[in-house]
Amino acid sequence: MPQIELPNADTSTITLAEAMHSRISQHAFEEQPLSIASLSQILKNSAFSENASHRPYPSGGALFPIEIYLLVRDVESLSPGIYHYRPDVHRLEFLWVLSENLELDVTFDAWVTSAPVLIVLTAQWSRSWNKYNDFGLELSLLEAGHIGQNMLLSAVATNACGCPWGGFNEKNLADILDLDNEREQVVYTIALGPSISKASPN
Ligand SMILES: Cc1cc2nc3c(=O)[nH]c(=O)nc-3n(C[C@H](O)[C@H](O)[C@H](O)COP(=O)(O)O)c2cc1C
Repeated sequence: MPQIELPNADTSTITLAEAMHSRISQHAFEEQPLSIASLSQILKNSAFSENASHRPYPSGGALFPIEIYLLVRDVESLSPGIYHYRPDVHRLEFLWVLSENLELDVTFDAWVTSAPVLIVLTAQWSRSWNKYNDFGLELSLLEAGHIGQNMLLSAVATNACGCPWGGFNEKNLADILDLDNEREQVVYTIALGPSISKASPN
């Protein structure tokens, strides 16, 4: 699969405490592409790992069942499409072009279609099944929450914003990502985009 290098520059302008206290769920985005620097930093802070046994989030049994996919609509220097993040090398893998008649089911949340990126976290059951059986589901949901919080805080730190989307249609997203539902299941999604600039005081 074509691999896309991501920039490494740290563009955050605020402290961790500031990011934590200013995080809110936002689903109105500035009408411009999300910068590649911001997306890169969100992914790097959330999941990059040079060491196979350590990541920026905890994982039950260190089995790391969560995979990160991106539905990219409008990101600087990326073609619209479906991508997969490789946390070991901090690269995106381009999977395929976003179909023009992509039928993302947003029945309850039309705002999702305006998000420049939809992050989709999936759980690969086979990684935790041998050790945890059904308990692996709970562990992977908890793990996805840790990754999600990393993403939301990193978004705030890079002048972006996001909103978890719990109203996704699991089958619809599995079809879009062409997942084998026996082995891999969508567990969490987060919409991300550039934050709307605050009007300067007159
Ligand atoms: C697991 C989860 C799923 C959520 N799903 C949605 C959603 O589908 N649509 C939405 O507008 N907000 C969603 N939210 C955001 C919550 O509405 C929001 O976190 C809550 O109102 C508190 O506001 P705050 O995040 O700005 O502090 C979700 C939050 C979580 C944690």
